[in-house]
Amino acid sequence: MPIASKVQEVKQELAQLAQNATSAHDLMLGMVKLLQERMLKYNWVGFYMLETPPGEQPLLVLGAFQGAMTPHTRIPLHQGICGAAASSGKTVVVDDVSKDPRYLACSLETKSEIVVPVFVKGKVAGELDIDSHFPAAFKDEDRELVEYCATLVGKTLERTQQAK
Ligand code: SME
Repeated sequence: MPIASKVQEVKQELAQLAQNATSAHDLMLGMVKLLQERMLKYNWVGFYMLETPPGEQPLLVLGAFQGAMTPHTRIPLHQGICGAAASSGKTVVVDDVSKDPRYLACSLETKSEIVVPVFVKGKVAGELDIDSHFPAAFKDEDRELVEYCATLVGKTLERTQQAK
């Protein structure tokens, strides 16, 4: 199946998931599972959420994920590709992680990575991080798909936080 059609199909499944989700956490759990199952080059898929522990600097804390356990469960904003995406509020795509000095290794098999911030009311609230065992796995269509996921989660967080 051409990648563009696959992305359209998966987007519809994600929209359905968002409609049925009872909470943002529920949506994130379903989303990481669906992405890892349906997108064959997405080998590790996980959310990091921004938290500010009392008396500490904000940091990224591992949330829902699919794939092997990572040593990076808490990432300061000045570290890693994850820190770069959260602190800049911009999507970061790395075609070859071995050439990026910011990269924090999760698995020796990882070759490329995409990290997309999740916004709530215009502010970064977390991010969706995906690693691939294939170099340059994340093309324009993938970026569009992952940004779509981040938007769905941001909107669900906004809706459920408002309801509180
Ligand atoms: N590679 C990330 C760390 C998270 S693991 O990939 C799951 C980074 O460089 O920030």
